[in-house]
Amino acid sequence: MPARVEDSLDRVLTIEIVRATERAAVAAARFRGRGDEVRADQAAADAMRQELNTLQISGTLVVGEGERDDVPMLYIGERVGTGKGPNVDIALDPLEGTTICAKDLPNSLAVIAVAEKGSLLKTPDVYMDKIAVGPGYPDGIVDLDRPVEDVIADLAREKGVRPREIATCVMDRPRHTALIESIRKTGASIRLIGDGDVAGVIHTTDPDETGIDLYVGIGGAREGVLAAAALRCMGGQMQGRLLFRNDEERGRAKTIGITDLNRAYSIEEMAAGDVIFAATGVTDGSLLSGVRFRRSTIHTETLVMRSASQTIRRLKSAHHADAEKFGALDADEDD
Ligand code: FBP
Repeated sequence: MPARVEDSLDRVLTIEIVRATERAAVAAARFRGRGDEVRADQAAADAMRQELNTLQISGTLVVGEGERDDVPMLYIGERVGTGKGPNVDIALDPLEGTTICAKDLPNSLAVIAVAEKGSLLKTPDVYMDKIAVGPGYPDGIVDLDRPVEDVIADLAREKGVRPREIATCVMDRPRHTALIESIRKTGASIRLIGDGDVAGVIHTTDPDETGIDLYVGIGGAREGVLAAAALRCMGGQMQGRLLFRNDEERGRAKTIGITDLNRAYSIEEMAAGDVIFAATGVTDGSLLSGVRFRRSTIHTETLVMRSASQTIRRLKSAHHADAEKFGALDADEDD
């Protein structure tokens, strides 16, 4: 267990931030399967922000819904909390997997990571090339600058299996055609996911259960930082490199202080020090159950963890279906 647990984040925060992911998940879940990504995301963001602003923290969003000029709330640089507690960095995605929520498919989540100030990579809303494995491998086994075939061969050797017994997870996107071909050449299998690569990365931490050894490919940068925070708590290795499609994106990176645009960030460079991570299931998935609405109660399941103690909790909560706090679908239907 890493030392200095007592010097780092207030551990009460571990439970406190769960309120924010639970509330966002419930708000989003009301839009499950309704084909409306925008309203689902908006509802989750509203709910998460409201709850975050009740926490005794002086929080700054380093990873948010987007840049200040582009989104009305939860923008990068926004201050959240009562302003009376510790100074912390926050990375969040009130609804990770807007499309999967709108289609009621597996693994959409409400996600937050909290860390000491200056510990989370401040990233603009761009893409990131990612590679990740779970715990138990020698340091440096994942490297964005090595051919994926070599990484798979090393993983297989370390695991004592043939490369064809290694299972990878890749987002199903045209941009991955060459990557998929390279993986196929090794014989390794590929789980192609439609969306939701935070869950994709987390799957590598328990290959016996999830069947995934390696996550690789390009997804959102904010999801990269959130996934790095989760792996810091669960064990594993990850690298991420920001990808810029044009000068406008490069300019945005420079505005927020990123000078080396080609850097491959290590997991610690994306999420350093003591990190708390929480994710509540919106839709049912392989990581978490989705929100259940019953007659007078609402049920949520949350994964909440802290890197300093390496404690991993699964929290099943039953909430009184208080319309003031959790809203009601009827109200939305009247709009
Ligand atoms: P949203 O929640 O913003 O819809 O993101 C879903 C997601 O699948 C992420 O998990 C992933 O990192 C990103 O989108 C990939 O982006 P794109 O859909 O543009 O390939």
